[in-house]
Amino acid sequence: MTITPEFIENLRGKVSLSSIIARQVKLTKRGTRSVGLCPFHHEKTPSFNVNDEEGFYHCFGCGVSGDAISYLRETSGLSFIDAVRELASIASVPMPEIGPIDRSKQKRQIALLSCIESASNFFQSNLKIEKGEKALDYLKKRGLTEKIIDEFHLGYAPRSGLNKFLKSIECTEEVSKLAGLISTSGRDGKNYDYFRDRIIFPIQNRKGQVIAFGARSLGDSQPKYLNSPESPSFSKKAVLYGWIQARERVRRNLPLLLVEGYMDVIAVTASEKAAALAPLGTALTTDQITLAWKLHDEPILCFDGDLAGRNAAVKAIKRILPVLEPGKTIRISTLPENIDPDDLIRQHGGDGLLLVINSAKSLIDAAWSQNASLYKLSQPEQRALFWQEIRNLVRTIANNQIRAAFGDEIERRIKVMRASTRNDTGALGFGYISSFNRTIERPKTGALRRTQTLLGLMIAFPKIAIDKFDTLSELEFGDLHCEKMKNHLFDALFREPDLDERALRYHLSKLGYNQTLSEIDEMLADLWNDNKKANKKSDEASQKIDEIISLSLAPRRR
Ligand code: UTP
Ligand code: MN
Repeated sequence: MTITPEFIENLRGKVSLSSIIARQVKLTKRGTRSVGLCPFHHEKTPSFNVNDEEGFYHCFGCGVSGDAISYLRETSGLSFIDAVRELASIASVPMPEIGPIDRSKQKRQIALLSCIESASNFFQSNLKIEKGEKALDYLKKRGLTEKIIDEFHLGYAPRSGLNKFLKSIECTEEVSKLAGLISTSGRDGKNYDYFRDRIIFPIQNRKGQVIAFGARSLGDSQPKYLNSPESPSFSKKAVLYGWIQARERVRRNLPLLLVEGYMDVIAVTASEKAAALAPLGTALTTDQITLAWKLHDEPILCFDGDLAGRNAAVKAIKRILPVLEPGKTIRISTLPENIDPDDLIRQHGGDGLLLVINSAKSLIDAAWSQNASLYKLSQPEQRALFWQEIRNLVRTIANNQIRAAFGDEIERRIKVMRASTRNDTGALGFGYISSFNRTIERPKTGALRRTQTLLGLMIAFPKIAIDKFDTLSELEFGDLHCEKMKNHLFDALFREPDLDERALRYHLSKLGYNQTLSEIDEMLADLWNDNKKANKKSDEASQKIDEIISLSLAPRRR
């Protein structure tokens, strides 16, 4: 089906935008515009404008804008094509028919795929005969079982023989060349096999048809990996390696990893702890991200633990933000220095992989801390630059609702950062400014106990501490030592919002809070004993924190 820009333009002209929007929003006519309460953010006075003449809406409150198609997509969660379909049905315009098929093109495509399929069978059988012994040994040395070799249809391309084989099955020279299996030498004009003495990784499309090959040299001969050239059946940037095998595992509810290499896909798959897909030796494209979302709402980026891998992850984050859709995201994991997923699994097994998967960061955390690490945040100018950069990054998100949600979260974090610097007692090297009169009682035993219990709860439940940051940061802890510790704690949390209790304790102990930490532990032990609860529950902790806050906020007796 082909949807042309003209078709969409025509559709837009046939439907009044305000009639679509009026199904959800009460609009009042004002001259050539209609206005109402913005459906994309909460407001009390209308700043959402609809211009029927131009088929455009804009909100002066939150900045969203778009046309009928983007409105349908974002309010009903429709895909582009479904939004067009919906609009066509509102306009009572039939959708375009599937265009006339070019018979000769179709025939060539069939011949091409059948040639590639035959070549794949040829490679596979060559791995199992004497010629392929060296290759099979190599794979086994790398820990691959017969089962996984078969599941990925791995093969061996001998030094020669494919050309002859293709002729024998009446695959024409034209098709063999189009498939990238045969090349003509510039020197003597003779045809030769494109892949020679290499391990073959057949690349399948989503229907399971083999459309191309990746091929690894056995020794040190270069290039290490060679891919089929682009062909009418193969566009590198729109394909992910391992689709069929990954789909089977995602159906069994395993997490989905996006890795860099063929061998990483195979090692992850063989571990049975996760499914894996890889781009083909290029950076992850937006097409590939969208494709991965068809299998899983939240794939995990798991690139190599070297500089190239980290840079690739940064690039991937930048690419993903603009194409984010509601409910779809990625997480980002970090591998140990100079290790790829295949190495990790060989050294630490499937459990090592699980550890990496479970500590993967959310997209917003990764974007935040990756950017934060580029600045000297103790300098105000650098902090301002960081805020500017992170806000610019959020602006690249095309989806209005996600941009708003990310914007809120980033502003909240910036606020935490600002307040933390304002209230700082030394962590960032600024003087302590007490701007609030809410004061905890003089540190007598009762007050100190409460303060230390509070700190203990904050350390044990960092997420709650962040949630209640506004109140907690304003609350004076009376005891200077505790006050300092609180600020160090928030300092650490705004740099790395996903620090857990263990990491926080480690951090605080390195700052010299060992003594206080053990005092705090005593308080907590008392608290949980008092409650006769073995399991520390977070809602209970939250309640306890509120209780202590309200006690501490009680007006001081004069
Ligand atoms: P790596 O160099 O990280 O290889 O390339 P690897 O996956 O760890 O491979 P092994 O473990 O040495 O066998 C990652 C990916 O980059 C592409 C391939 O897709 C490879 O899987 N690549 C690499 C190439 O296309 N050509 C090359 O010469 C090297
Ligand atoms: Mn490797």
